[in-house]
Amino acid sequence: MRLDKLVSMIGFTRSEAKKLIVSGRVKAEGTTLRDPGANVKEDIDIEIGGEVFSVKKHIHVMIHKPAGVLTATEDGKGAKTVADFLPEVFLKRGIGPVGRLDKDVTGLVLMTTDGQLAHRLISPRWEVTKRYRAKVEGRLDDACVSAFRNGIAFKDFTAKPAELEILSAEDHESTCLVYVTEGKFHQVKRMLQAVGHPVIHLHREKIAMIELDENLSEGQWRELTQSEIRELYVLTEMNENG
Ligand code: URA
Repeated sequence: MRLDKLVSMIGFTRSEAKKLIVSGRVKAEGTTLRDPGANVKEDIDIEIGGEVFSVKKHIHVMIHKPAGVLTATEDGKGAKTVADFLPEVFLKRGIGPVGRLDKDVTGLVLMTTDGQLAHRLISPRWEVTKRYRAKVEGRLDDACVSAFRNGIAFKDFTAKPAELEILSAEDHESTCLVYVTEGKFHQVKRMLQAVGHPVIHLHREKIAMIELDENLSEGQWRELTQSEIRELYVLTEMNENG
């Protein structure tokens, strides 16, 4: 790969990368290279002005989305987005969210620079399970569980069978876990509303086998571990290094 392309993958524009290289500020594997077109391996460490960067092909992160924040990388009206929590270099690399959570919904959002991985994780074809924790109005009962198992019909679509696990049930309020394999607009809220239990609060805990890290408070993020990344690529039948 050309050295200027590799440097731009760290988060610089191609012309910034060229200037840094020509001015002698870039070392590849310990050697200063001044030719932006120099041919280098993709997985080497690059030193720029004394700071070492390892260039990963893709960046994958989990973020704990707070309420009031949009699942987007920018908003024309200036609202806060999940991207505001991430370093600028990730945005320059083109990181984007995998699906969406409503503005008032909290919890796990995955973000990746791998558009095909994101596409497969939200595609109905791959039936990736998402787990939500919901607080709802009223007492949930077995009839709600059965309704979820049978698939709920709406005017615009019929939700696929889903699991509802009741954690607590009282007259005024209940809590439950909901497992769905689709991601239609307001899907979980609509399903719970359809069985007579409007949502008070909704929180996403898990996507496929990736669980929201309990050490992340709202607004915090971390990169996925190698084993989490591998699991996502295996699940979506993709080649991690492809
Ligand atoms: N279901 C919803 O209703 N809202 C979300 O944000 C996600 C799932």
